[in-house]
Amino acid sequence: MPDHAQPKPPATEPHGELVIRTIAMPADTNANGDIFGGWLMSQMDLGAAIVAKNLSRSRVTTVAVDGMVFLNPVYVGDIVNCHATLLKVGRTSMKIDIEAWVQRGRDGTLLKVTEGIFTYVAIDEQGRPHPVHR
Ligand SMILES: CC(C)(COP(=O)(O)OP(=O)(O)OC[C@H]1O[C@@H](n2cnc3c(N)ncnc32)[C@H](O)[C@@H]1OP(=O)(O)O)[C@@H](O)C(=O)NCCC(=O)NCCS
Repeated sequence: MPDHAQPKPPATEPHGELVIRTIAMPADTNANGDIFGGWLMSQMDLGAAIVAKNLSRSRVTTVAVDGMVFLNPVYVGDIVNCHATLLKVGRTSMKIDIEAWVQRGRDGTLLKVTEGIFTYVAIDEQGRPHPVHR
């Protein structure tokens, strides 16, 4: 089998800067009693926005979220960590990869939950795109 056809082993450790750390609470559950995916996405959005704001030193808005797949459920009491990696800076946009991991149980077993690419646009006071580097 050629090398590129080998299946990728599951990620064993997070990549990127730790930008959000929080605990999943009962108020964030869905109808199944697990953590609502929208809550997790909002944590990832907040974490990536911090990176984009710090880089552009301006207001930013989310323009796209790509490639998200939920690999494992999140449970109440899990410690949720979001790790960010800046992938690309365009004229007005910034692409940031965010990995969400949980630490679970007494031994704090690490488990990757999801990953996605969040794109932000630097905007002025009127909400119009403006260059990241002015
Ligand atoms: C984001 C927004 C300001 C962009 O305005 P626009 O007039 O479409 O701007 P442009 O076409 O000049 O695109 C601006 C940048 O975004 C990028 N972009 C636009 N659509 C994109 C998409 N679907 N995916 C990735 N990048 C995108 C462009 O490539 C461009 O990047 P660059 O300047 O680095 O080359 C506007 O679409 C908007 O306000 N959207 C709503 C955002 C929002 O409310 N988000 C929160 C949702 S709750």
